[in-house]
Amino acid sequence: MQQQKERGFTLWFTGLSGAGKTTIADIVEHELRERERRVEVLDGDIVRTNLSKGLSFSREDRNINVLRIGFVANLLTRNGVGVIVSAISPYKEARDQVRRRIVDFVEVFVDAPLEVCAERDVKGLYKKAYSGEIKAFTGVSDPYEPPAAPDIVLKTDEEEPQESARKVLEKLEFYGYLQPPTEDAGYQWGTR
Ligand code: ADX
Repeated sequence: MQQQKERGFTLWFTGLSGAGKTTIADIVEHELRERERRVEVLDGDIVRTNLSKGLSFSREDRNINVLRIGFVANLLTRNGVGVIVSAISPYKEARDQVRRRIVDFVEVFVDAPLEVCAERDVKGLYKKAYSGEIKAFTGVSDPYEPPAAPDIVLKTDEEEPQESARKVLEKLEFYGYLQPPTEDAGYQWGTR
């Protein structure tokens, strides 16, 4: 079953800042490595410090950022890598463009109400957005277009990150991108 084990995919997490994309992506990444999958993570915050350095948060630049991430994700995916993308990716047009290009694409909507994200305010950015110190902040002063037909929806205000990650992994198994853990592999959920 080596062939199936190495089937690449792009897992694309979209959602507001603070919705939990990176947290869940981290857990999923860890579990995929436990199952000896080759994994690469493309996180918006990190991509913006290199591949997309200098891009603004205008609609145009956000879409360029998303298309760049999609380009790299596609190269990796077709070489059997499990790619985890975590980026706000607020505009449907760019997400759909990427989706059309990447055959093995799984869209994950990390869905948390704006108030919850703002309340969490992990990076202190919502405070700045509401005070006007940061302009064009997604959800506050810039749009976010929720996906119309995501493959997975994670309600992170209602479930723990471990639960969300489990849903993602089960979906990957369901689609045939990942083999369910065998008992003799000594693998157990939540042993992290
Ligand atoms: S995207 O819109 O182009 O997909 P991306 O995911 O790469 O965004 O980067 C979002 C991150 O940039 C946020 O998590 C936050 O840390 C930071 N950031 C800085 N300014 C903004 C802004 N105006 N809107 C959203 N995020 C911002």
